[in-house]
Amino acid sequence: MSSSPKHPTESDADLPPARAGGAQAGERVLDQTLRPEAWDEYVGQENIKENLRVLIAAAKERNHAPEHTLLYGPPGLGKTTLAHLMAKELGANMRVTAGPVIERVGDLAAILTNLESGDVLFIDEIHRLHKTIEEVLYPAMEAGKLDIIIGKGPSARTIELALPAFTLVGATTRIGLISAPLRSRFSGGVFQLDFYSEKEIERILQRSSKILGIKADKEALEEIAKRSRRTPRTANYLLKRSRDVAQLDRAPLSKSIAEKALTMIGIDIAGLTPSDRRILEALITKFSGGPVGLKTLAAAAAEEEQTIEDVYEPYLMQEGFLERTPRGRVVTARAREHVGKKMPQERLV
Ligand SMILES: Nc1ncnc2c1ncn2[C@@H]1O[C@H](COP(=O)(O)OP(=O)(O)OP(=O)(O)O)[C@@H](O)[C@H]1O
Ligand SMILES: [Mg+2]
Repeated sequence: MSSSPKHPTESDADLPPARAGGAQAGERVLDQTLRPEAWDEYVGQENIKENLRVLIAAAKERNHAPEHTLLYGPPGLGKTTLAHLMAKELGANMRVTAGPVIERVGDLAAILTNLESGDVLFIDEIHRLHKTIEEVLYPAMEAGKLDIIIGKGPSARTIELALPAFTLVGATTRIGLISAPLRSRFSGGVFQLDFYSEKEIERILQRSSKILGIKADKEALEEIAKRSRRTPRTANYLLKRSRDVAQLDRAPLSKSIAEKALTMIGIDIAGLTPSDRRILEALITKFSGGPVGLKTLAAAAAEEEQTIEDVYEPYLMQEGFLERTPRGRVVTARAREHVGKKMPQERLV
């Protein structure tokens, strides 16, 4: 199906609406070059890996397709990569599509009826499926059948089609938008990906430097890891930008080169991007630190509401810069102190 123009190529499906750390078309290529090809190259998320491997091994033994699985968490943490690893472990084909490109019930019917037995169907951004389409998915997930209505009015008839056995792997950055009936049909498990530890990011950076042929000091990788929003995709992006600066300086990638590169692209010492800081600054200067509603905050910080929720907020909350209360967003003492520092980087961006 990826040959059909209606459905995205895998790289399109990989591209989230926006990303901290600099959304670049080239990042898609980078994602694919650096994507782990084996379980032991996939650093961290140990609990999820363990669960998935048991699910797969047990299903293989029974000669069944594993049950449907939902992966959720902020962009760039490795959802698509996990889906690939699952398909690989199963020795199955992976069919890739995404919620927003399935516009009509017929689109989904075409995808489902074209599956081969044992396929993994990956639906990215599954929270963006229309309600009517979601309802077609229920019997497909539960009973492996597709109910198609032919005709209109009194002469309308329902035909039931049996589908080949398949495993649906859904991915979303917005678990809150997944309806309860859809969520309950992921009987293989609903798994939340966490931000990585700095040590884990360092390991990812060591592997990436090897693949890209970058000679980097340990301290340089530590510095990049510290400022990577604990997100593999961002870490890889920052590594590449640092490599560019090292190359033009005709120098190995040292800590000071990494610092120079990160400062140039506006990443501060806490790993916050100019957008993160704009959100915190808007909250502090325009709303005395909050509470303020998402809509108002988005307008004040000149960002999309969805981007704030998907991309910026999870990390700001995780790191204790921002809190969500029933009355709105509030900054923390840490945010006030950090933004108040007036870092030299801010003058550069
Ligand atoms: N656990 C990991 N170990 C090593 N590299 C990783 C890991 N997770 C992600 N990466 C790297 O980060 C890139 C981005 O990961 P991936 O595309 O799987 O994220 P995602 O969660 O699907 O993001 P999005 O929500 O934007 O689709 C991968 O191509 C890979 O290079
Ligand atoms: Mg993805």
